[in-house]
Parts: sequence; C-alpha cells; structure tokens
Amino acid sequence: MATWSAPGKVFLFGEHAVVYGKPGVAMAIKPRVAVTVRKSRNPPHARSPYIEECFRSTGVQGSVYIRSQLPSSSGLGSSAAVTAATLAAISEEFNLGFTREEIAERAYAIEKKVQKGRASPTDTYVTTFGGIVLITGDSKRRLPPQNFHLIIGNSLVSHSTSKMVEHVAQERQRNPEIINPILDAIGAVTMKAIKSMNKPQQLGQCMDVNHALLDAIGVGHPALSKLVLTARATGAFGAKITGAGGGGCMVALCPKHAKSRVAGAMDATGARSIITTIDTEGIRREKNE
Ligand code: MEV
Repeated sequence: MATWSAPGKVFLFGEHAVVYGKPGVAMAIKPRVAVTVRKSRNPPHARSPYIEECFRSTGVQGSVYIRSQLPSSSGLGSSAAVTAATLAAISEEFNLGFTREEIAERAYAIEKKVQKGRASPTDTYVTTFGGIVLITGDSKRRLPPQNFHLIIGNSLVSHSTSKMVEHVAQERQRNPEIINPILDAIGAVTMKAIKSMNKPQQLGQCMDVNHALLDAIGVGHPALSKLVLTARATGAFGAKITGAGGGGCMVALCPKHAKSRVAGAMDATGARSIITTIDTEGIRREKNE
C-alpha cells in the first residue's frame, strides 16, 4: 500500500493566453488531494477516467482510495492533483521508480488524452513540483516562492474548462483583430507582474487589469464580477478570475490583516471562500492510514 498527496493550483496570471503560447504564472496552493494505491487483482470499477488512465498507461492493477480537500471542477487543478498523486503512489507500490519529471510528463499526457484536446502542461507541472511556475509554450521556469496571502472565492457556478477554451478559440476566429491584441496584452501584464512579485500593490493592479482583459475575451460571469468587486472593496490589493472562468473560482491578493474580512465578505455573497497560501512541496509521500 502506498499513499501520496498533491496540491491544488491557481493561475495568478495568463490563463487562456497561455493556450496561445503567451506567458502564464501559476502557483501551487495548500489544499491537497491524497491517493492510496494498493496492489489488487480485482480493482473496483467506476473510478475517474484520470485514474483509469493512470493504471492503463502503466499496465498495473490496483485499488484506489482518494481523500480530497480540493473542490472538483472548480479550476483549482483537482484532476491534475489526483493524476499526479495516483502516478506517484503507483510508482511506489509497483516499484516503477518514476522521477518527478516523468510523473509530470505522464500526468500531462493523461490530462490531454482524457480531456480530448487542448490542455496546457500548467496544472500537472505545478502540482508535481509545487511553488510558483512561469509557463511559456513548452518551457517551464520555477520562480522564487512568495508568501502571498490569497483568498479563493468559489462561485459554486459550474463551468467547463474545455467549453471556455473553445469559446475563446471561436471569438478569436471571428474577431482576430480584437482578440489577438487582448491575448498579447494579457501576456504583457504577466511579464509586468513577474517584475512586481514583491510589490503587492503593483501586483494587485496587474491582477485587476488581467481580470478586465479576461472579461473582454468573454470568460467572465456576474457571480465572479461580484466576488472580485467585493474583495477589492473590503481591502484586497487586487482580484481576478482564476482558471477558465465562466463560473468556477476567482482569487484575491490580500494584506495579512484583511484576510478574514475579505473572506467573510465573499462568503456573504453566497460563495465559498478558501484562505490559502503557497505550497512549495508538490507531490509528497504520506503515511499510510
Ligand atoms: C484553465 O485552468 C486554464 C486555461 O488556460 C486552460 C489551460 O491552460 O489548460 C484556460
């Protein structure tokens, strides 16, 4: 029996634009998913397609037990975390000796296959290695860790990442002269943000601009706008949609002393807030329970 866990993630900057080769920054966050794998000839059915693919691609058979602190389908990378933790647990249980790099690559291949199309390697890389990562096309660079105080607001509005990615692709085809410069501007905001990582006021402004640009490409939602405005009005440095938009989550950067006020105000709008900070570990071996 082997148990491994993996963290969730938020996009701090650059979602959607990253799909078109622009830079994006994502950060691993504290809530985790833990997966226990045990050798077994008769694995139970009705597991997630990600887990099925972990077993199929490694050619082994086993049972799986999952405990998650991460809400699924909310844009916080729960499928990537489940996939990376399952691969790490399979590697230990069946002595496959996968390196972290191999786990990140295999997890990305599995996400792409299950999602039948475009997925950036962001989620799988960030959950495997932890920390803050700059993604540009196929290149990934780890940035120095920062002790950001983040509040995530889950709008509880369901959304589909693949539909939102498709929506942007269609808008871009219809109005390339409008959408392409917006995607370029998102890339420019990301580059500006990287230079402002230790200046929270400026970083917050970058988040606000990034949010407006995401709204402009059509991935906003009234519930997300309300949460973003609430966070800013109650003391956040800045706030934006995180992930695919159209529902799901937003993220606010806060001064430490304002965390509970901002989170409380967001909850009062009917959302579910999570106060969180960076995870620097990525996948981690856990004691078997
Ligand atoms: C979804 O969390 C982020 C997108 O940029 C898609 C991706 O990067 O795979 C919309």
